Amino acid sequence: MAENSRVWNAEISAYLGEAGLANFSDLQRHLFNAPVIIYLTVERDVSPWMIYDMGAFSQSILLAAANEQVDTIPAYETAKYPDAVRKIVGIPENELLIGGIAMGYRSEGMINAFHSQRSSVASFLTIKH
Ligand SMILES: Cc1cc2nc3c(=O)[nH]c(=O)nc-3n(C[C@H](O)[C@H](O)[C@H](O)COP(=O)(O)O)c2cc1C
Repeated sequence: MAENSRVWNAEISAYLGEAGLANFSDLQRHLFNAPVIIYLTVERDVSPWMIYDMGAFSQSILLAAANEQVDTIPAYETAKYPDAVRKIVGIPENELLIGGIAMGYRSEGMINAFHSQRSSVASFLTIKH
């Protein structure tokens, strides 16, 4: 597991406690009770640059939603069963499913007051002179 995921898991477990974690698992199973999920797809035969493009596009969706006071969760959970997603959403075979972004208005639940720690910029940025 990547270091940031490991830290995030440890932080959220400590924050929610056992009962809170069980609720969080339920929420994940119910796709965060989101009224809307955006699925990102791209044709299979595009250039590898699309990895950059899709990341930037996803980020733009998150920022545009935030600008409208709509909350978002890019989540593996939304695409965990890609065959089912493909069938329900109607994604053709020539398109890759990149992932899903759950959208909606946050509840007052404890999970929505959680703020993950941020790594210091110095821990991932190298400046060459
Ligand atoms: C590609 C990707 C997949 C993610 N999958 C999940 C997921 O399945 N379930 C979940 O609760 N959070 C998931 N997250 C994390 C949340 O979307 C969110 O980024 C995380 O709670 C950190 O939020 P913060 O940066 O505002 O603290 C995922 C994030 C990314 C970028």
